[in-house]
Amino acid sequence: MTDPVIADRSPIGVDVVAGRTYWWCTCGRSTRQPFCDGTHNPTQFKPLKYVAEQTGQVWFCACKHTATAPLCDGSHRGLAPEEE
Ligand code: FES
Repeated sequence: MTDPVIADRSPIGVDVVAGRTYWWCTCGRSTRQPFCDGTHNPTQFKPLKYVAEQTGQVWFCACKHTATAPLCDGSHRGLAPEEE
Protein backbone atom coordinates (compact mmCIF):
# COMPACT_ATOMS: atom_id res chain seq x y z
CA MET A 1 0.00 0.00 0.00
CA THR A 2 1.39 3.39 -0.94
CA ASP A 3 1.41 6.34 1.41
CA PRO A 4 -1.26 8.99 1.12
CA VAL A 5 -0.42 12.40 -0.30
CA ILE A 6 0.11 15.08 2.33
CA ALA A 7 -2.62 17.54 1.35
CA ASP A 8 -1.61 20.06 4.01
CA ARG A 9 0.56 20.22 7.11
CA SER A 10 -2.09 21.68 9.35
CA PRO A 11 -5.63 20.51 10.11
CA ILE A 12 -8.72 21.99 8.47
CA GLY A 13 -11.45 23.37 10.71
CA VAL A 14 -14.98 22.65 9.49
CA ASP A 15 -18.32 23.60 11.02
CA VAL A 16 -20.24 20.32 11.03
CA VAL A 17 -23.89 19.61 11.77
CA ALA A 18 -24.95 16.91 14.26
CA GLY A 19 -26.14 13.76 12.52
CA ARG A 20 -24.81 14.76 9.11
CA THR A 21 -22.46 12.41 7.23
CA TYR A 22 -19.13 13.59 5.83
CA TRP A 23 -16.71 11.60 3.67
CA TRP A 24 -13.11 12.31 4.64
CA CYS A 25 -10.47 11.98 1.94
CA THR A 26 -7.89 9.36 2.96
CA CYS A 27 -5.72 9.55 -0.16
CA GLY A 28 -4.84 13.23 0.03
CA ARG A 29 -5.57 13.81 -3.66
CA SER A 30 -8.95 15.48 -3.40
CA THR A 31 -9.21 19.13 -4.43
CA ARG A 32 -12.05 19.53 -1.88
CA GLN A 33 -9.97 18.88 1.25
CA PRO A 34 -10.62 17.55 3.75
CA PHE A 35 -13.39 15.73 1.89
CA CYS A 36 -13.42 13.18 -0.93
CA ASP A 37 -14.03 14.30 -4.52
CA GLY A 38 -13.60 10.88 -6.12
CA THR A 39 -9.98 11.44 -7.17
CA HIS A 40 -8.92 8.34 -5.19
CA ASN A 41 -10.05 6.18 -8.12
CA PRO A 42 -8.25 3.99 -9.15
CA THR A 43 -5.94 3.96 -6.09
CA GLN A 44 -6.45 1.54 -3.21
CA PHE A 45 -7.77 4.36 -1.02
CA LYS A 46 -11.40 4.78 -0.08
CA PRO A 47 -13.03 7.71 1.71
CA LEU A 48 -13.80 7.37 5.42
CA LYS A 49 -17.33 8.00 6.66
CA TYR A 50 -17.69 10.46 9.54
CA VAL A 51 -21.00 11.22 11.22
CA ALA A 52 -20.92 14.35 13.35
CA GLU A 53 -21.98 13.77 16.95
CA GLN A 54 -22.41 17.45 17.70
CA THR A 55 -22.89 20.67 15.78
CA GLY A 56 -19.76 22.79 15.86
CA GLN A 57 -16.23 23.06 14.58
CA VAL A 58 -14.04 19.98 14.29
CA TRP A 59 -10.48 19.76 12.98
CA PHE A 60 -10.06 17.28 10.15
CA CYS A 61 -6.62 15.86 9.44
CA ALA A 62 -5.10 17.11 6.18
CA CYS A 63 -1.69 15.41 6.40
CA LYS A 64 -3.48 12.02 6.23
CA HIS A 65 -1.19 10.50 8.86
CA THR A 66 -3.45 10.86 11.90
CA ALA A 67 -4.08 7.84 14.11
CA THR A 68 -7.51 9.20 15.04
CA ALA A 69 -8.96 9.58 11.55
CA PRO A 70 -10.59 11.62 10.35
CA LEU A 71 -9.67 14.09 13.08
CA CYS A 72 -6.27 15.63 13.71
CA ASP A 73 -4.08 14.07 16.41
CA GLY A 74 -1.06 16.31 15.86
CA SER A 75 0.78 13.80 13.65
CA HIS A 76 1.56 16.57 11.13
CA ARG A 77 4.12 17.93 13.59
CA GLY A 78 6.17 14.73 13.29
CA LEU A 79 6.31 14.59 9.49
CA ALA A 80 9.61 14.90 7.67
CA PRO A 81 10.26 18.44 6.44
CA GLU A 82 9.12 19.33 2.94
CA GLU A 83 11.71 18.99 0.21
CA GLU A 84 12.59 22.26 -1.44
S1 FES B 1 -10.39 11.73 -3.16
FE1 FES B 1 -9.18 11.04 -1.49
S2 FES B 1 -10.36 9.40 -0.66
FE2 FES B 1 -11.56 10.12 -2.29
